[in-house]
Amino acid sequence: MATVLLVSRPAGVLSKVSSSCSPAVIAAASGTEVQKRKLHHAVIPKGRGGRLSSSGISATVFGATGFLGRYVVNRLSRIGSQVVIPYRCDQYDLMYLRPMGDLGQLTFLEWDARNQDSIKRAMEFSNVVINLVGREWETRNYRFEDTFVTIPQQLARATKEAGIPKFIHMSHLNADIRSPSKYLRNKAVGEKVVREEFPEAIIMKPSEMFGREDQFFNYFANMRWFSSAVPLIAMGKKTVKQPVYVVDVAKAIVNAVKDPDALGKTYALVGPNRYLLHDLVEYIFSVAHRPFVPYNFPRPLYHLVAKFFALNPFQPWTTPDKVDRFHISDMKYPGLPGLEDLGITASSVEQRAIEMLRRHRRSRYLEAGMEETKPAKTVTY
Ligand SMILES: NC(=O)c1ccc[n+]([C@@H]2O[C@H](COP(=O)([O-])OP(=O)(O)OC[C@H]3O[C@@H](n4cnc5c(N)ncnc54)[C@H](OP(=O)(O)O)[C@@H]3O)[C@@H](O)[C@H]2O)c1
Repeated sequence: MATVLLVSRPAGVLSKVSSSCSPAVIAAASGTEVQKRKLHHAVIPKGRGGRLSSSGISATVFGATGFLGRYVVNRLSRIGSQVVIPYRCDQYDLMYLRPMGDLGQLTFLEWDARNQDSIKRAMEFSNVVINLVGREWETRNYRFEDTFVTIPQQLARATKEAGIPKFIHMSHLNADIRSPSKYLRNKAVGEKVVREEFPEAIIMKPSEMFGREDQFFNYFANMRWFSSAVPLIAMGKKTVKQPVYVVDVAKAIVNAVKDPDALGKTYALVGPNRYLLHDLVEYIFSVAHRPFVPYNFPRPLYHLVAKFFALNPFQPWTTPDKVDRFHISDMKYPGLPGLEDLGITASSVEQRAIEMLRRHRRSRYLEAGMEETKPAKTVTY
């Protein structure tokens, strides 16, 4: 069934697809005709499922150059998928993505989120579109409304118009129209517009993700530069977090692409444990072998300091919105499917922390094991 879904909209090695593969022709074709059509050998699933096989997936990943994107491209490529990577950065900033796929399997295309033609061109020969576009701060060109509402809406609409059967959209676990965070309010609106444009879209709602390049654990660990004094609203004792490992989220996306039953579902992706923010940050410092000196920072004062950092025209270290987002307790969605429904066992913070926090240690602790580090206390509420 998965196979039928994936090949029902033919895609192929981009340069070799004949004109009969155009989306208009495909949309017009009846189900039987689609089955009879000669598919390019590159998208007929074959092989043992490794890098040199063909998974039948031809995916366009918008936002592939970000934190999560590299893991998604890697996971898609290692099962033998074709991946189109629309980018807007310098060619040299994409170098790390190039070896992820077999020769000719990754296609890089320049795109501009305000140029409809570039969007259509990027998804022309794909049978899956994944939207990972996001930004932690607003810029003069792109406000949160643009990044989290307008761009997803346009991608969903273009995917629908092109007759592509699968659209995966990244939202956020705490997306809520009443949230104090503008980021999260716009994420909530984004979910709604994507559903309107593409009712069968698969929406992923991860909590804060942790991994080597994250902006969550690294954000707190980097506070060691400020003499390890860690500002936390209410000492972090009123915020409960349930972070999820970035690789688990990438696996979830790939499994959702392969699962025909995932269409139209919303997934809440969280880690296995819930922690008080205070205990989580204490654990981060303990793994990094750094002294942990938390202090209570009132929200208005924290906002004031964050506003100063937000003036940075490049990558602000923090913003008032990020302060709010990090101090919002993670919601619980018992009714929504999660990682286990996609066949994934969630990795705990304790299993993965050393990977990302070793680099925050002093040289004399680089080789130290985890035996002396007590696991972080968990909570059930
Ligand atoms: N990180 C988390 O903990 C977390 C948690 C929950 C949900 N999410 C959501 O998951 C998605 C991926 O997160 P991430 O951490 O991988 O984000 P990220 O590292 O900030 O990467 C975002 C990607 O979006 C692209 N992008 C941003 N604005 C764009 C624009 N105006 N036009 C074209 N491309 C644009 C970036 O391209 P450039 O490289 O060219 O800037 C980059 O490829 C986002 O939607 C995010 O909101 C993230």
